[in-house]
Amino acid sequence: MATATAPGKIILVGEHAVVYGRPAIAAPVWQRVATATIEPAAPGDGCSLHARDVELDIHLRTARDDEPLAVVTRLALAQLGIEQEPDWRIKLHSEIPIASGLGSGAALSTALVRAIFRQLGREAEPAQVSSLVYESERFYHGAPSGIDNTVVAYGQPIWFVKGREIEPFTPSVPLTIAIADSGVRSPTKATVGDVRRAWQREPARYESIFDAIGELVCAARRAMEVGDLPALGQLFDANQTLLESLDVSSETLHRLVAAARRAGALGAKLSGGGRGGNVIALVEEDAVDAVSGALYTSGAQQVIVTRIGAEAR
Ligand code: PMV
Repeated sequence: MATATAPGKIILVGEHAVVYGRPAIAAPVWQRVATATIEPAAPGDGCSLHARDVELDIHLRTARDDEPLAVVTRLALAQLGIEQEPDWRIKLHSEIPIASGLGSGAALSTALVRAIFRQLGREAEPAQVSSLVYESERFYHGAPSGIDNTVVAYGQPIWFVKGREIEPFTPSVPLTIAIADSGVRSPTKATVGDVRRAWQREPARYESIFDAIGELVCAARRAMEVGDLPALGQLFDANQTLLESLDVSSETLHRLVAAARRAGALGAKLSGGGRGGNVIALVEEDAVDAVSGALYTSGAQQVIVTRIGAEAR
């Protein structure tokens, strides 16, 4: 029997613009993980996949070509040179809320790939996992930048530019981030598609917003390198304003962002695809309780506090 886990993730700065070649910074969230477990099935039963959280019960042999978890299983087996379907019962479980910007799809696929490799006596390299998972992410996202699969497969904070080599990245001082789930489910594919259509209509305007986001991400990296948390907080706020001008925020997200700031957060923004999903707030340790409380009072379904750069795995 083989088991593997993979973390959730947040995008700290740079979502959406990252699809258009600008940099972004993302980090894993180890407080919420996806797990894949492989048990032997009866000889001749073949390979089946069961994920209670996403109501999935499929057989690899008959699974559709657009089922991401079947796609990633087939790709992993092919890469390992396994031609005959193994007799396996694969169980998947995720603590990460679906379609909430925490990378649930990438985490499930990553755990699955790792478990498949382990079951066959191999350990998968992060780059290998990342590229296999990217293939399956295309079904969740349309044309993803690749940031989700990369941060989840590497399991550490990353500086990400589409098509470039990955740069793992650790802030010089730990960042305390409160992650508030708005409870609104919003598929990333929809907001990414809307931004694309808007960009096609008004390319110059959108390119300049993406440029501004790209510059802000560079400034955020510098702030993290020197440990200037107030500056980083302001950059979160500026990123939120730019995401609002891309029309991917919402009343609910705005309310959570405002509540976090009023309660003493250094800065706050939506994280991920937007319109729903999560808001992240940069907080000092002594403001954690006040900010978490304010987020709950303003309607957050759940608040997770993570420390980036401090929680090594
Ligand atoms: O999976 P999400 O919702 O965290 O969003 C991914 C980030 C986007 O930049 C919006 C899309 C992408 O492919 O990078």
